[in-house]
Amino acid sequence: MIVGVPKETFPGERRVALVPSVIPNLAKAGVEVIIEKGAGVEAGYPDAAYVEKGGKVAADRAAVFSAADVVVQVLCYGSNDKTGKADVALMRRDQVLMGFLRPLGSREIMQEIAGTGVTSFAVEMMPRTTRAQSMDALSSMATACGYKAVLIAADTLPRFFPMLTTAAGTITPARVLILGVGVAGLQAIATARRLGAVVSAYDLRPVVKEQVQSLGARFVELAVEAKDAQDARGYATAQNDAFYARQRELLGKVVAESDVVITTAVIPGKKAPTLVTAEMVRGMVPGSVVVDLASERGGNCELTRSGETIVDSGVTIIGRINLASTVPYHASQMYARNLTAFLLNMVKDGKLNLNLSDEIIRETLLTRGGELVNARTREFYSMPALAAQGSA
Ligand code: NAI
Repeated sequence: MIVGVPKETFPGERRVALVPSVIPNLAKAGVEVIIEKGAGVEAGYPDAAYVEKGGKVAADRAAVFSAADVVVQVLCYGSNDKTGKADVALMRRDQVLMGFLRPLGSREIMQEIAGTGVTSFAVEMMPRTTRAQSMDALSSMATACGYKAVLIAADTLPRFFPMLTTAAGTITPARVLILGVGVAGLQAIATARRLGAVVSAYDLRPVVKEQVQSLGARFVELAVEAKDAQDARGYATAQNDAFYARQRELLGKVVAESDVVITTAVIPGKKAPTLVTAEMVRGMVPGSVVVDLASERGGNCELTRSGETIVDSGVTIIGRINLASTVPYHASQMYARNLTAFLLNMVKDGKLNLNLSDEIIRETLLTRGGELVNARTREFYSMPALAAQGSA
């Protein structure tokens, strides 16, 4: 079985789907790796490092797609809305494709991918279970984003993060507020604490209170309670307008007291909720910084412009996207380990065994045989359910 790794083409993308160190693990299961020339260079992995571990190098992208039984990417067409479409012509019926596909992004694109006949797996749909933890690419990338958001904030803020006692007097620590405490939020708390900031955090899911406190941050409790805050998969549920209005009202004071606000709140398949209004930004001290990690999904701050940095009333609002790509060495390493665990769960005797009674395989399988087969995605697009499928 041959796994092919094309070079990523999304503008500015520096990650690569597999790193050299996973090649021996795949080889033990009878899987060969072929990479497009230069695929790992920007992440810090030259071609020679792949060859040293037993990988092969193909001269161009078309050669990778034509040799591979399984094509692995970070941003496949779907999540790569800029240049991903060019890959459609290279995909073959029954070839397997794995990566971020943004299944709840566009029905047309999902059907276009299905139309090629590829068997695709969207890593975003990975169940949040203990068994799937080692395969959870969303968590890996969220870790990189949470870490980087804090570094960018620290670099932009005209103050120190830590408390300093110096001959020139005492410097008070920066006050950092994290809104949304999933994987990215938790990493942001830990990173801001390591830099010495005083950290507070808020999430509508009350269960995270203990996690926030265990990282040495204060959990902000608001006098507004979310209805069924969390769904069966652990994700936040969408709330009504009255909830969001009350939430903003109560958050105003906390935001005004913060030097840095990092927002991470998203709801799968929906526009991100507005947590920080323009008015709240204008209540912050000039020089303060907002980093909006939800910028790609509409943003948590009313003033955020996706992909841009703006200054309003002296407050810098950073809407940079694709932050995981700015830590490409480790983001690629984590992603490669996630994909390898995912692949090895599926490979038997050097062949893919698509056992659909395994929820990891069933829930991530997106398209097959020309159809969009993923139950959650079909439901999201109000498409009729398909009859249950067996293994193949
Ligand atoms: P996410 O990226 O979907 O959302 C980020 C955070 O924003 C969440 O904590 C969410 O509750 C919060 N949020 C949404 N709307 C909000 C609002 N209006 N106000 C305040 N906060 C709001 O979250 P992520 O990182 O994907 O984690 C989702 C859940 O999955 C968490 O419970 C996490 O612990 C769990 N998880 C479980 C895994 C496993 O068991 N294998 C792996 C990774 C995550």
